[in-house]
Amino acid sequence: MKNPRAKVLVINGPNLSLLGERQPEIYGKYTLEDICNEMQKVAEGENIHLDFFQSDSEGEIVTRIGQAKGNYDFIIINPAGYTHTSVAIRDAIEAVDIPCIEVHLSNIYKREEFRQRSLIAGVSRGQIAGFGKDSYILAVMAISRILKSSES
Ligand code: DQA
Repeated sequence: MKNPRAKVLVINGPNLSLLGERQPEIYGKYTLEDICNEMQKVAEGENIHLDFFQSDSEGEIVTRIGQAKGNYDFIIINPAGYTHTSVAIRDAIEAVDIPCIEVHLSNIYKREEFRQRSLIAGVSRGQIAGFGKDSYILAVMAISRILKSSES
């Protein structure tokens, strides 16, 4: 078995456990489990180890980010509704100093005005939004490309 080249924590925020049935015209027909399985397949091919965490609670997400320090090389996060409100999640990401990729299924910039501001973007390495479940796959690929470019 290959050694994991990188460890990535994938965090999903509130209401994302309802994917598949929640506003499929906006968020797609795939469940969170479908998305995690597809990410896992792509990550295996790229020699990336993924751990998954979903919570509806801001405090639990903050705690999980804090526990990631020293244990993960990257974080992929869809903070869902907390994207637009959570100073605490932003502070946690800044505090652990782990490069973070922010993902959204929908393009938050062409939705309601309150969704067009992300408190997380300013502490993220980059943001991927608007590609449905492929936003998550693209985040795994982004990490793979970053790892490859840091090797050369
Ligand atoms: C979301 C966009 C947020 O505005 C919303 O609250 C979500 C999902 C997305 O993935 O498109 O729950 O983060």
